[in-house]
Amino acid sequence: MDTSQLRQQFEQHFGSATGASCWMAPGRINLIGEHTDYNGGFVFPGAVSQCITALIKPTGSRDVRLWAADLKIGCEFSLNDEQGPDIIHFRYVYGIVREMMERGVAIGGFDAVYAGDVPLGAGMSSSAALECCFANAFNELFHGGLDRLSLALAGQATEHKYVGINCGIMDQFISMHGKEGCLVRLDCRSGEYSYFPWHPTGYRLLLVDSCVKHQLVGSPYNDRRQSCERVAHLAGVMTLRDCSWQMLESLKPSLSDEDYRRAKYVLGEYDRVMAVSDALQRNDYETVGQQMYLTHEGLSKDYEVSCEETDFLVDQARKMGVTGARIMGGGFGGCTINLVADRLYDTFVTEVPLRYSQQFGRQCRIIPVSIGGSASRLPQFEL
Ligand code: GLA
Repeated sequence: MDTSQLRQQFEQHFGSATGASCWMAPGRINLIGEHTDYNGGFVFPGAVSQCITALIKPTGSRDVRLWAADLKIGCEFSLNDEQGPDIIHFRYVYGIVREMMERGVAIGGFDAVYAGDVPLGAGMSSSAALECCFANAFNELFHGGLDRLSLALAGQATEHKYVGINCGIMDQFISMHGKEGCLVRLDCRSGEYSYFPWHPTGYRLLLVDSCVKHQLVGSPYNDRRQSCERVAHLAGVMTLRDCSWQMLESLKPSLSDEDYRRAKYVLGEYDRVMAVSDALQRNDYETVGQQMYLTHEGLSKDYEVSCEETDFLVDQARKMGVTGARIMGGGFGGCTINLVADRLYDTFVTEVPLRYSQQFGRQCRIIPVSIGGSASRLPQFEL
């Protein structure tokens, strides 16, 4: 939906859009470093051109009216409301409102219409995009004066407190700190980060959306996190970042097989991110790809967040000679990320959907990746 359609929707639901401002925040990819953020490890994300766009108009009242134009649903709540909407989708915006208020921002009432092209449930962080779009807008519209990291943390707190997912910081961080043409390596223990220009000559990144929706709300994601925390606790460290292979092996007899395998994956993923950082310095994309396959194996067998469909997509990529492939994001369906040599591109985009529909009787979707910038205001679309 383009911004003129968004404006039409605004006028249809709330009247004149004059005085509304326009905001965007991106979804993300993650090259490597999965389920490492809440373990104090490294992640390697990039913001993408797919984003959420919102038109927001302060009203001077204490009421909020929202219209999610893609989903064709709306909701209203008061800023004084302690419970918030029941529909999960609106709890992201409600949560951001409350979190910003808690951080001392004098949020006023507003009307907002929003839409986006970050596929829902695909592991591309549509929810972080939504949170960051509104957090960044509120910060400017209501003179919050918070820095970008604080806005990302407000988004993360929204997931924890209003949605029930104890996520790490990766998604909100990259939505607030992405830079065109660059991936970011973030150390989730220290908060230090550096930009890595991403121009892999001879290769492209492509996502394949299995179109199987993962269910992160509920327990599977939080269960994984709890396993890691149990092991860290027994090892006497804050997070698994500070647990060595030696410590893990000596703990093995006192761990359940499941917890052991979860921790083994996380320690391995730390090593793989390091290997990828080194390889990128040498433009060695073959090594990057090999590490991606190894990550998938760990996510599938030890961390158990893959599924039949995404395993199939990665297998097919391997069989076709694709440089690297793995499931991306929280897991339980969603996308695979593929590092594809230019010469394989045409075969890949025609063959993969064909094989997938033959296997499962349903369609998958190829999503091109271009690395874009962070949450921002779009003044060119304002009246
Ligand atoms: C989800 C969470 C992130 C991260 C990934 C897995 O996207 O929101 O914090 O844990 O899963 O890497």
